[in-house]
Amino acid sequence: MPLSSGKPGRDCPSCPRLVEFRLRWRERERGWHNAPVASFGPPDAGLLIVGLAPGLQGANRTGRPFTGDYAGDLLYGTIKEFGFGRGDYAARPDDGFTLVDARITNAVRCVPPENKPTGGEIANCRPFLAATIKEMPRLRAILALGRIAHDSVVCALGGRPSAFPFGHGRRNALSAFALFDSYHCSRYNTNTRRLTPEMFKAVFAEIRAYLGEPASQSTTSAALRSGGNSE
Ligand code: URA
Repeated sequence: MPLSSGKPGRDCPSCPRLVEFRLRWRERERGWHNAPVASFGPPDAGLLIVGLAPGLQGANRTGRPFTGDYAGDLLYGTIKEFGFGRGDYAARPDDGFTLVDARITNAVRCVPPENKPTGGEIANCRPFLAATIKEMPRLRAILALGRIAHDSVVCALGGRPSAFPFGHGRRNALSAFALFDSYHCSRYNTNTRRLTPEMFKAVFAEIRAYLGEPASQSTTSAALRSGGNSE
């Protein structure tokens, strides 16, 4: 796979610790994905959502970002509420849920032990993040879920994180893009109420206002705001 691609190969050798972990889980759970998790959603989307890394029993099992783990329930529900998704999210890659003008990726594509990638692993994976951003011709907004995703996006775009600090609800203008930040929608953050569903929705409302209503969806958000079912 050329390095200019946004998609690491199934046996990407870049991070020895992650390769070893991947091989261990391939042995243990033969039916799981156990490989780098590709971005989900159309490359011509206006919004890119950047998570941290696949969860062991979520994206690493199912092969689709945030699918099958706790964080996915809040993320996909909110995506749909703001008109960036269609269908019913059912925590399976074959649930038929589609993203509308949005794409989801991770700063690190392979599952790390304990959900904690090292600085070196984040840096090794950054060319894939940079290539993912580059291959999106209509990209206008990026949503970083957590500081690690934020810093990796800033570096991928050639900026210095100290010049563009992370902050929940903050928006930075970076290169040609608006970079929105949220605390990560992890189980820990939601259980401790560091991130509430209302706080998360407020960030999506900002993004929706920034991007405007998609022409074909102009009734969706209005119906949702009035509590109606748009489908
Ligand atoms: N699942 C993902 O794909 N990414 C995260 O950051 C968390 C869970």
